[in-house]
Amino acid sequence: FHTSFISLASFLSIYIFLSEFQNNSHKMAAYWPEPIVSVQALSQTGVTTVPSRYVKPFHQRPVLNSSQPDAEIEIPVLDMSNVWGKPEGLRLVRSACEEWGFFQMVNHGVDHALMDKVRAAWREFFELPLDEKRKYANSPDTYEGYGSRLGVVKGAKLDWSDYFFLNYLPSSIRNPSKWPSQPPKIRELIEEYGEEVRKLCERLVETLSESLGLEPNRLMKAFGGEDKVGASLRTNYYPKCPQPHLTLGLSSHSDPGGITILFPDEKVAGLQVRRGDGWVTVKSVPNALVVNMGDQIQILSNGIYKSVEHQVIVNPGMERVSLAFFYNPRCDIPIGPVQELLTESRPALYKPIRFDEYRLLIRQKGPSGKNQVDALLSSR
Ligand code: OGA
Ligand code: NI
Repeated sequence: FHTSFISLASFLSIYIFLSEFQNNSHKMAAYWPEPIVSVQALSQTGVTTVPSRYVKPFHQRPVLNSSQPDAEIEIPVLDMSNVWGKPEGLRLVRSACEEWGFFQMVNHGVDHALMDKVRAAWREFFELPLDEKRKYANSPDTYEGYGSRLGVVKGAKLDWSDYFFLNYLPSSIRNPSKWPSQPPKIRELIEEYGEEVRKLCERLVETLSESLGLEPNRLMKAFGGEDKVGASLRTNYYPKCPQPHLTLGLSSHSDPGGITILFPDEKVAGLQVRRGDGWVTVKSVPNALVVNMGDQIQILSNGIYKSVEHQVIVNPGMERVSLAFFYNPRCDIPIGPVQELLTESRPALYKPIRFDEYRLLIRQKGPSGKNQVDALLSSR
């Protein structure tokens, strides 16, 4: 009995060690820790209760009634034709970024018909049979493809959504053969949409730079130059949910990269932005695009602009599709606070880190509020 107890104990400790190692090691595990379940397929079975792996702890569950005090508050809406190249526009951008880290853009220059077409194409993709979508099943080493979870922590509570993630920039890592081949026009639409949003991001980075009192090209220089920046597209699919008060479509997080251009669903609200202790549900203006600051902007601006936490709620009646375009600094150079923004009373708040290293940590842990960027605060 004695020896078998010892070998059982040592077997267990080795097992625990190995699984901890998998969770914490900085090398990416190539596989998911548990079999992947498509949430869309689960929702389509007509389940009437949310399985426990999607049930969030009490403190993370959303408050769904609209009688909250913040319900009438809206994130700023900026008419970009009054922003580009206008001093008053820079002040609007600055106050939106300082106060919210988020704003909606109208007259942003991206063609509305193209926006409608690319979203319709993604809807069609998600409506394909599961076997067709599974051909693109992703793994946690690159995340590229069709997936249903973020992070590789075994036993983690999961979000009520599926997604398709693809790399767009730099063009050297763009590989349309990994993108959906159906519906027929989807690849061209993704490229056309990507080009327009890329141009919008270039203009925004310049405007953000000026709004911080920097030379127009200063932030882009810190990003590593327009030819070297990274960009990716994640199309999120939030299926109908029988018990939306128990779960989230996407858990609270800040975006790890530079800026995010979100094309929300025209009909279904879901995005919530942190405001103090509560959440504000974004009411999207038709044809608007939402922009939000990611952790790299917080780092580069030395905390003048903050990446703001957000999450997505789901509902029992309608599925929701959103397109998130992530525009990121070059991934292989250190990103730290811009020198010109440092003063004696406000020295560098963050230790420089390369974006590829930063992203790796996020990709292992999955969404976890603002823990990641807070961990970079240099101890002073
Ligand atoms: C994201 C995100 C919000 C949404 O993909 O990072 O925050 O409305 N999406 O889908
Ligand atoms: Ni996000």
